[in-house]
Amino acid sequence: MASNLYEHQTNGRKKSQVVVVMVPFPAQGHLNQLLHLSRLISAYNIPVHYVGTTTHSRQAKSRIQGSITNIHFHEFPTPPFFTPSPNPNTSTKFPAHLQPSFEASSHLREPVASLVHALAPTAHKIVVIHDAFMSSIVQDVVTISNAESYSFQSGSAFNFLAFKWESIGRPSSLKLETLKNLPSMDGCFTQEFMEFATCQIPLMDKFSSGTIHDVSKVIEGEYFDLLTKEEFSGNIKQWALGPFNPVSISDHKRHNCLNWLDKQDPNSVIYVSFGTTTSLTDEQIHELAIGLEDSEQKFIWVLREADKGDIFEGNYARRAELPKGYEQRIQGKGIILRDWVPQLEILEHASTGGFMSHCGWNSCMESMSMGVAMAAWPMHSEQPRNAMLITDVLKIGTLVRDWERRDELVTSLSVEKAVRRLMVSKEGGEMRKRAAEMGGTVRRSVAEGGVTRAEFDSFISHITRM
Ligand SMILES: *[C@@H]1O[C@H](CO)[C@@H](O)[C@H](O)[C@H]1NC(C)=O
Repeated sequence: MASNLYEHQTNGRKKSQVVVVMVPFPAQGHLNQLLHLSRLISAYNIPVHYVGTTTHSRQAKSRIQGSITNIHFHEFPTPPFFTPSPNPNTSTKFPAHLQPSFEASSHLREPVASLVHALAPTAHKIVVIHDAFMSSIVQDVVTISNAESYSFQSGSAFNFLAFKWESIGRPSSLKLETLKNLPSMDGCFTQEFMEFATCQIPLMDKFSSGTIHDVSKVIEGEYFDLLTKEEFSGNIKQWALGPFNPVSISDHKRHNCLNWLDKQDPNSVIYVSFGTTTSLTDEQIHELAIGLEDSEQKFIWVLREADKGDIFEGNYARRAELPKGYEQRIQGKGIILRDWVPQLEILEHASTGGFMSHCGWNSCMESMSMGVAMAAWPMHSEQPRNAMLITDVLKIGTLVRDWERRDELVTSLSVEKAVRRLMVSKEGGEMRKRAAEMGGTVRRSVAEGGVTRAEFDSFISHITRM
């Protein structure tokens, strides 16, 4: 019987073989990935406990796509933290305004240790899966004899390999042409965040039993294989368990924009969204608006502000101005959404033919899972490198602007050209064909007998071994 595969009878009481504790980093992309991973692990009838501050746990649950059942949520209050509005005018696009909420997560160290202590007697083994940026929070796990911890890397294998390669002094033994032209890390992070990350990363390798990636071997096999080599990973086992997101989705509460998509031609709509950590300047919003209109392509544009550190706190959000008469002019051609949208469903829809994106890793994986080519407009963090993977390496997308020109306004003409290149040019047609094929490959990889399914089964056997 599947239901007690991982449970044993001990002294007449049920004792699980293994219990998993998830410790996500409190930013949307990261919260989302580990909640999807929770769902996948829980499908093997393994109890999963998802830990967060009260507000971030609530955030993760309120935005998840796909059904979440059987996950035990633990919500721990923190002292109040500063939750400023994002500033669209800063020269670096990294969401500096989220820093206080990142720092607030330090209050989870004690509650997490107590939780793992409390769970320890209930199972043969406690497996703690924590975001690499939460390494300091789980450091006490080493004192619990039947617990082991796995760190989670939320980005692409390509980005992680590049990071490792640079941190060991760019050895020329690694002969990869692509790595020679890596976009610069300048402008990717704030100094404050670099300092925060620098305190977490060294701890991670000290007690990690393995590293889990939201990466698929059918997409990044070459980079992932290199990553597993000793010079990059020491003897720490690496697992490619992605995509974590569902590869097909249907929600009974259907968003209105899907009804609009139903009426459009196949592959005719470009979906435009820059994730949860980017706020564009007024000037940039204006150029983007005109560029989309001038491209004469149908579009769905998600025009929202970056998340605040506590998304439930206060109602203030800048309502970005559009050019005069714009919304009347684009009627029937485009729709503008200012709230949370079901991105996976939009990407899966047959009318969606392209995705203009900041290239956060969740968006990249979702787009590749659904077979949608991208117009890449990286903003910060590892996004310029993800964009390089999407465009240069996988050739399933085109750049809206080059990272080296990040300080310049992207003109409406650049936007128009990028949209046309992706949606109507011959070159774009080839990108879209490759993306569609990749979607099929990814979906097969997670089905019975697929590469990712096999990797997942092997991970589950590893953590449930006696
Ligand atoms: C950003 O710049 C715009 C226009 O220059 C200005 O109206 C706005 O108040 C600025 N916002 C912030 C948060 O500084």
